[in-house]
Amino acid sequence: MVTGGLGYIGSHTVVELLQAGFNVIIADNLSNADIFILSRIQEITKREPVFLEIDLCDYEATQTIFQQYKIDAVIHFAALKSVSESVANPLFYYQNNLGSLMNVLLSMKKYRVRNIVFSSSATVYGEPDKLPVTENSPFKKALSAYGSTKQMGEEILESSAANGFADIIVLRYFNPVGAHESALIGELPRGIPNNLMPFITQTGVGKREKLTVFGDDYNTADGTCIRDFIHVVDLAKAHVLATERLLNRKYESAFEIFNLGTGNGFSVMQLINAFQRVTGTTLNYQIGGRRAGDIECIYADASKANRILKWKAELGLDEMIRSAWKWENSI
Ligand code: UD1
Repeated sequence: MVTGGLGYIGSHTVVELLQAGFNVIIADNLSNADIFILSRIQEITKREPVFLEIDLCDYEATQTIFQQYKIDAVIHFAALKSVSESVANPLFYYQNNLGSLMNVLLSMKKYRVRNIVFSSSATVYGEPDKLPVTENSPFKKALSAYGSTKQMGEEILESSAANGFADIIVLRYFNPVGAHESALIGELPRGIPNNLMPFITQTGVGKREKLTVFGDDYNTADGTCIRDFIHVVDLAKAHVLATERLLNRKYESAFEIFNLGTGNGFSVMQLINAFQRVTGTTLNYQIGGRRAGDIECIYADASKANRILKWKAELGLDEMIRSAWKWENSI
């Protein structure tokens, strides 16, 4: 079962799972996803996942899925993910992100489903003391309710593993960008995008007038923040490997964590320049003030995933931009 399977990372993962031969049940409440993505998944894979429009905050409805289907593993993407919205309405974020996780875990325990892969985020590291960040780098105090729900989600899962009823792989994503090569699925931000890549591509096609670079006075080579951008298809493939690791009982402990990034940091200005070079489009941008809560520089040590999951990011920055641009031009 893939919760949030019609969302951005979820839909790319469903494609990879179907192509690897898995049968997939998607549970999604469509709160931040569009139903047309389901037919796009079918178009790419020529297979039909089961689709259930269900809100996982509804305990009875969540249990019904486990009653009706024999589930081997859960990949839990379903969550709200806007930092600014979570600052404006923190209780909504705790209720939604932690409530749905609790309902999934309680159902797993009741119906004896052991395996779960959890979507976490590099946001748990906050502003790191040492770079690159490893899975052992400490949590920093979260600056938003969104960030807290990822930290608390991991803690709830660690307790579940310690309690012996679940085997868990936590995947900490760095900055997912790009789209499927078919340009049939991709990121679909509602309203004004918060994240950099969709803001760049929307400005490039003229949906937005101008991109603002949030600060050029950071202590980096060009003064703009540095991130580890990772192609969403590479990310999706890691979920297939993590699921197989759980199903084949290959894990070393019942609670494992992997960073998913390329290990390379690129600055905001480097991404803008690469976008202009790859697409031949001139981007209308201006330098603005810093955005509250932004981290100066973060990139992954992904060697644990390389070594143990046998996963490596294969697609580079140009491919991330090319696919994101192709998708933007198709919607
Ligand atoms: C953000 C969230 C993070 C979440 C991730 C999901 C914050 C502080 N962090 O990460 O918790 O897991 O999204 O993808 O919001 N930028 C601009 N102009 C823009 C947009 C962004 O200059 O219009 C800059 C930002 O200042 C930042 C970089 O681009 O330095 C990346 O921003 P973004 O794509 O929002 O990702 P994060 O902030 O790293």
